[in-house]
Amino acid sequence: MNILLLGPPGAGKGTQAKRLEERYGMIQLSTGDMLRAERASGSALGRQVQAIMDAGKLVSDDIMIALIASRIAGLKGKGFILDGFPRTVPQAQALDDMLEKNGIALDRVIELTVDEDALIDRISGRFSCKSCGASYHDRYHQPKQPGRCDICGSTDFVRRPDDTAETVKARLEAYRDQTAPILPYYRAKGLLRSIDGMAEIDAVAQQIETILKSPRG
Ligand code: AP5
Repeated sequence: MNILLLGPPGAGKGTQAKRLEERYGMIQLSTGDMLRAERASGSALGRQVQAIMDAGKLVSDDIMIALIASRIAGLKGKGFILDGFPRTVPQAQALDDMLEKNGIALDRVIELTVDEDALIDRISGRFSCKSCGASYHDRYHQPKQPGRCDICGSTDFVRRPDDTAETVKARLEAYRDQTAPILPYYRAKGLLRSIDGMAEIDAVAQQIETILKSPRG
């Protein structure tokens, strides 16, 4: 099964992608994580995208399409969850071309809808496992054992530099202006399903499972 999770910053895409990865062995393809890894490695690409990410703006389509293309080509039949890509109509069109070229079909596009106030609250309380990237929240989702990641057991956690109130505003604006226009693109293909991302994490996961088990369309 190959799925795409869509939704504004803080909607819960990464949280749900990690669950699907853990439960079904699907591969999470998070372009945000890929870019953060480039930054952490100090690569030329990482240095190039740093200021754009910290301003909450979108990295150029050319860079993003090249970044994801090699990952798609390397999947070798494994199911995937796209998280953070595509984010513009040209990226969605490029994804279609890449999938076709590799003989892969997209099975579901799932939109997580969340109120804007809740997004800001979620992002400002977020912290992640430094080792595996699992996402937690100061109030809504603490590790089961305090200070130890549920997924990989690491005790190192980080907060993202773009999770500030000002940057979140810019990220929400980028979502509204550049990413939301891809919703009609997938609706027209009969792939789009929208779910209530305001529900608790387990309840959101349940809604996703129901969609994965239901017939396409
Ligand atoms: P990216 O890393 O993709 O960030 P984002 O889309 O802004 O999404 P987030 O990771 O902030 O949110 P999420 O939906 O994954 O929420 P999470 O599960 O963590 O991109 C970062 C930057 O990279 C972009 O701004 C851009 O510059 C660049 N970029 C990346 N891809 C690009 C592309 N394709 N094109 C151009 N530029 C690109 O949850 C958030 C918090 O809420 C967590 O604390 C979590 O524990 C909590 N939470 C989750 N679900 C719930 C729930 N149901 N109830 C209560 N709390 C919850």
